[in-house]
Parts: sequence; C-alpha cells; structure tokens
Amino acid sequence: MSLLEVKDLSVSFPTPDGLVRAVQGANFSVDAGKTLGIVGESGSGKSVACMTVMGLVRGARVSGQVLFDGRDVLAMREDDRRRLRGAEIGMVFQDPLSSLHPLYKVGWQIAEAVRAHERVSWRAAQVRAMEMLALVGIPNPARRVEEYPYQFSGGMRQRAMIAMSLVLQPKLLIADEPTTALDVTVQAQIIELIRQLQGDFAMAVIMVTHDLGVVAGMADHVAVMYAGKVVEYAERRHLYYTPAHPYTKGLLASLPTRSRGKARLAQIAGQPPSLISLPPGCSFHPRCPVVTERCRAEEPTFLSLTGDDAVQGAACWLARPPARAVHPAAAKGPVP
Ligand SMILES: Nc1ncnc2c1ncn2[C@@H]1O[C@H](COP(=O)(O)OP(=O)(O)OP(=O)(O)O)[C@@H](O)[C@H]1O
Ligand SMILES: [Mg+2]
Repeated sequence: MSLLEVKDLSVSFPTPDGLVRAVQGANFSVDAGKTLGIVGESGSGKSVACMTVMGLVRGARVSGQVLFDGRDVLAMREDDRRRLRGAEIGMVFQDPLSSLHPLYKVGWQIAEAVRAHERVSWRAAQVRAMEMLALVGIPNPARRVEEYPYQFSGGMRQRAMIAMSLVLQPKLLIADEPTTALDVTVQAQIIELIRQLQGDFAMAVIMVTHDLGVVAGMADHVAVMYAGKVVEYAERRHLYYTPAHPYTKGLLASLPTRSRGKARLAQIAGQPPSLISLPPGCSFHPRCPVVTERCRAEEPTFLSLTGDDAVQGAACWLARPPARAVHPAAAKGPVP
C-alpha cells in the first residue's frame, strides 16, 4: 500500500458563474520516501488537488478518497485532520509570506509549530527551531530566530518555511511551486535542499510545478494535469522518453535542452479551457495537433500502458503502448 493514495478525486466550486470543475476524477499515489511530480499549466487544478489532500479546501464539493497511511483524510474529523497536518504531512507554499505570520519572530513561529503537536518546553522547542534553521542553510540561526519574516530575503523565507514544515519530520512533504517566486540560482538551491532533506528524513515528496524541467531530476513518478484531470501518469523515465499524451509531448517540446538551448522553444498553441464550460470530448482537443473526430465527441478513458517493468497510463484515444525497446536510453534510468 502506498503512503498516499488519491482515488477518483473530484473537487468543484459552486460560483455565481457556474460550477468550476477544478479537479475531476484524479488518481495518483506516492510511496514512502518517493517523489511524485504534479505538472501542468496554470489553472490545471494542481493546488486545489494538494489543498484537498491536506483537507484545506473550503466551500467545495469533494468526492473520492484521499487515503493517507490507509486512513481517509476526507472522512476524518477536523481535529484528526489538524493533527495530521504538520505532524505527518508538511506543506510548503509558493508564497512563504502567506504562511509565515509577519508579526511574529521566525523562531517563535517554528517553535510554536512544534508545541502545537508535541509536549515540549519552550526552551526545547526554540532549540529545535534553531537547529532546523541551521539545517536548511540559514547562516547565524541563533540571531535569525529572533528576527521577523520581513528581515529575511525571499530565499531565506522559503528556507524558513521549509524548516517549519519539516520540524516535526512529516512522512510526506507537499511542495506547491516552492521556488516560483525565486531567482534561478536560489530555485536550484531550494530544490537541492528538499532532495537532501528527503534523503535525511526518508520522506515522501509531492513536488508541484508548471515546469517539467524542475521534476526531471527528482521525481520517481509524474502526474500531468490538464483542465482538472490527470491526463498522463508515468514513471519519470517513461514520461520523458516515451510520453503518451500529446499534451505531455507539448510540454516536453517546450523545455530548453542543451542542444536546442532556449532558441527554438515550441509553445503549445492556444489556452486551457474554462473549467466552467469544458469542451465536449477530450478537454485538450481544441489545442491538440493530432485531434480526431472521436476526440471532439467522446471523452477519453484513462488507458493503462503499464508493461512488465513500466508504470504508465494516459487519457488519450490515440495512446498506444510505446515500443520501449527502441529507446535504449530509457533503460538506463535517470534523465539528465
Ligand atoms: N475557492 C475557489 N473558488 C472558485 N474557484 C476556485 C477556487 N479555488 C480554485 N479555483 C479554481 O480552480 C482552478 C484550479 O486552480 P488551482 O489553483 O488548483 O490551479 P493550479 O494548477 O494550482 O495553477 P497555478 O499553476 O497557477 O498555481 C482554477 O480555475 C481556479 O480559478
Ligand atoms: Mg497552484
């Protein structure tokens, strides 16, 4: 059994304009100590899916199951869910200012997170906060615990946020675009930090991003979301070497490579659809370069392409089990 199993998850928001179908029938799972990448364009439902896993969506209609260690998060009492958050599932958001309180010292906030879940003295909690800040690479932690978030740089705030979410050593860390607001060098440092801490704590990670390049070096599995649906789910090497969904292929074609540089980046033409009025058939069909009549009329079912040693599947009428043997690089494993 996986640490986290999300089964047939749907989340929709009633609004004055109509029902926003933010997530529809999503399935994905993460094993203990492993990394799942969730990738998709802005508005594809990544954050809503993660917030639902944490039991944090409000005003939504939710169906399906979110099994964490075999227990359904959606069916839990709010008290139990609160205990789960922080202690067993940590979360890092895109904007750390939304999670760090501006009026409290950083050290106090991390210590408070410890005290909310464990019976320890203030002094002990403060020491843990300091150790955690040191671990995430904040210089001079003894002084920094006494500072307020505004005294930290953006990258340091992100590190402080990671320190706070990891101080209770959760089994699962959900990192929702943890580096989008940061410059490229700091981005790479934060990703490396998460990888390193994942190894130290044997922690599972869900890494949410709109950039397939970010998860290329770290994910074991990748879920590609489009218009609220998981349109492809695969082991990383299969996703990169034998993508099955035209949308995944489009995302890959828009990645800079060493040989191509950034010079001739393909873009996926068009825009994602409104989640209030999805097109009939496959949601991707208006943008799909290989669209057929059937795609316009019938919604594709999720086809398993899983072979002997491969986990892969896609929601596309044209998906075929890839001839993996003709991709010798795929056998070698990690993508550069
Ligand atoms: N509380 C809400 N009420 C109504 N609609 C919502 C609500 N929260 C999210 N949505 C809608 O759900 C859809 C999915 O949003 P979500 O935040 O999950 O996208 P995302 O994939 O995380 O995008 P981004 O990459 O920009 O963060 C969007 O169309 C958004 O407007
Ligand atoms: Mg988001």
